[in-house]
Amino acid sequence: MNTLASLKTLATSALIASTFSLIACGGSVDNKTASDNEASAGNINPVDARQATMHDLNDAMGVMGNMIKNPDKFDANTFKKEAAFLAETSEKSWEHFDDQSAGAGGSTEAVWNDKEGFATQIEMFKAVSAGLNDIAQNAKSVDEVKTAFAGVGAGCQSCHTIYKAE
Ligand code: HEC
Repeated sequence: MNTLASLKTLATSALIASTFSLIACGGSVDNKTASDNEASAGNINPVDARQATMHDLNDAMGVMGNMIKNPDKFDANTFKKEAAFLAETSEKSWEHFDDQSAGAGGSTEAVWNDKEGFATQIEMFKAVSAGLNDIAQNAKSVDEVKTAFAGVGAGCQSCHTIYKAE
């Protein structure tokens, strides 16, 4: 009986504790987007978050690039998946560049001094990534995707030339 009672107390306080942390969380994130929440929940600062995204982009490009270099290794399903990941990521992962106060990281000042130019690079990158994804979804050979793939590579390069520090 005593044991049961104290178990109940324990369970209740655990419940209260988790309710409180939910409230605390909800209260502090009112003005943020879902991905900001993700970043703050894991204590990831914006510089780390955007560099992690860049590494993911780089990995996807590496997988596809290997197939472009070795056309006999073309695997339509894998290519399709990586192209879809790229297109999806190009649409949603730029808010970690918004907050300069987190530090410049490997970005040049132009990211914040020339917001319009940076936004244009993002739009171009979205367009080439979507273009590659469209073609990749039905592609059966490297020949079909290599021009669009090169366009995406040029998109990375074009932005880095101005907005990524050496
Ligand atoms: C719209 C601009 C833009 C586009 C497009 C872009 N990048 Fe970046 N990239 C940056 C900036 C700015 C940085 C520096 C980030 C920082 O450290 O603050 C960066 C950093 C990187 C880094 C270094 C990350 C690190 O750990 O320091 C890699 C790798 C990278 N990008 C790969 C790519 C690849 C691959 C693509 C294309 C598939 C791409 N990027 C497209 C702007 C861009």
